[in-house]
Amino acid sequence: MALLLWLGSQLSSCWSNISVLGVFLTVFTLLLDFMKRRKKWSHYPPGPVSLPFIGTMLYVDFRNPHLSFNQLHKKFGNIFNLQNCWSNLVVLNGYKTVKEALVHRSEDFADRPYFPVYEHLGYGNKSEGCPFDLSFLVNNAVCNVICTTIYGERFDYGDATFKKLLHLFENSLNEEAGFLPQLLNEVPILLHIPGVPQKVFRGQKAFMDFIDVLIDKHMETWNPAHIRDFTDAFLKEMEKGKVAEENGFSYYNLRLVTADLFAAGSETTSTTLRWAFLYMLLHPEIQSKVQAEIDKVIGRERSPTMKDQASMPYTNAVIHEVQRYGDVVPVGLPHMTYRDTKLQGFFIPKGTTIITNLSSVLKDEAVWEKPNKFYPEHFLDANGQFVKPEAFLPFSAGRRACLGEQLAKMELFIFFTTLLQKFTFVLPEDQPRPREDGRFALTSSPHPYLVRAVPR
Ligand code: HEM
Repeated sequence: MALLLWLGSQLSSCWSNISVLGVFLTVFTLLLDFMKRRKKWSHYPPGPVSLPFIGTMLYVDFRNPHLSFNQLHKKFGNIFNLQNCWSNLVVLNGYKTVKEALVHRSEDFADRPYFPVYEHLGYGNKSEGCPFDLSFLVNNAVCNVICTTIYGERFDYGDATFKKLLHLFENSLNEEAGFLPQLLNEVPILLHIPGVPQKVFRGQKAFMDFIDVLIDKHMETWNPAHIRDFTDAFLKEMEKGKVAEENGFSYYNLRLVTADLFAAGSETTSTTLRWAFLYMLLHPEIQSKVQAEIDKVIGRERSPTMKDQASMPYTNAVIHEVQRYGDVVPVGLPHMTYRDTKLQGFFIPKGTTIITNLSSVLKDEAVWEKPNKFYPEHFLDANGQFVKPEAFLPFSAGRRACLGEQLAKMELFIFFTTLLQKFTFVLPEDQPRPREDGRFALTSSPHPYLVRAVPR
């Protein structure tokens, strides 16, 4: 009996110790979370209420972040803050604010945030007039431009390897959107759970493996006397040894830079072209006006060249309106403040992730006459001459602006005019009117649609 009483008292004191420890740990964790989420600066931008541990993540639909940002913009103004777990983010909206940050204070906003998930990925024949989906053909054409530049490779239309590459790439883009990748970036410890990175980022891993094969092929056939492409030129720099390596010419960077150029240079341009043909289906009168200008300036025989652009204000305006209304990179790429800075009276500390809501610039009601309509006249003056309003920022602005802007503009003009010179794009009779809203996966792309390309 005495033994039982003794055991009972030991157990209850053990329980009370565990309870005390539990209470202590809970209070400590809540306190730590509070300290981490506390904003200790005066004049910090406003934002929604931050919840323990997850911050404001529930306020953002990570599959459609630009739509959430637009709602928060209406509520909190041009500059508002968010918290992904313990990381501070500031979202910039509207032409005036984005320009002030990216152009006037370019250096302050020029850093990029670090994404732990990348470490775990090792980054660290159509019959005429029949309905078809032009995504693959457009992707193939655009990818060939970038692939030739980087890897000296050109893929035939229908090539099985190429189909695989595009498929891997599409999967890898889809994997980056959504709540889970955000959470893993904020709580990188979760990446140490065996199998998690491989499972969540299977597509990205496969894409990088593919890039490795292309680079290995180069290394095997490399000849310093005959530089074939960007990869060869990079390998030549790497040969220079330690100093070159310290300047970033390492194998690790070669994989990342070429994968980056491939990713940044293919999806954006081909998606813009898919929007362009969708708008032509939906606005046949605009398509006819573009074709009339092509016939007048280029004719039906010779191929378009970049020189023609200056004499084709209407076509140029249509392409710009496709970029504005299509809004392909709605939330830009994240930046990070390089030092403490101020913006429109708000204080933003060094190391804050900055989201430039480019969608809010391209559809800024204070700038555009009809922000939510496809209206090429946004880029034409009273005499029908091409004009480019300053708020046209699909490539962002400042030090971090898109480095492929010139290439992309050439591709858009040449592909668009060449195809409209040869074909008229119409909606197949049995097809519903295509949707005009986008699907978000880092870029905003049209929902799949079918066209008939009628030879002219
Ligand atoms: C219509 C086509 C394109 C659009 C709309 C577009 C848009 C953008 C945007 C919004 C950014 C982020 C800039 C920032 O962080 O402020 C960006 C960055 C970038 N783009 Fe493009 N882009 C396009 C085509 C291309 C092409 C063809 C290439 C490659 C040749 C390319 C390469 C890059 C690279 C490497 C970056 C990262 C620059 C850096 O981190 O400093 N882009 N692009």
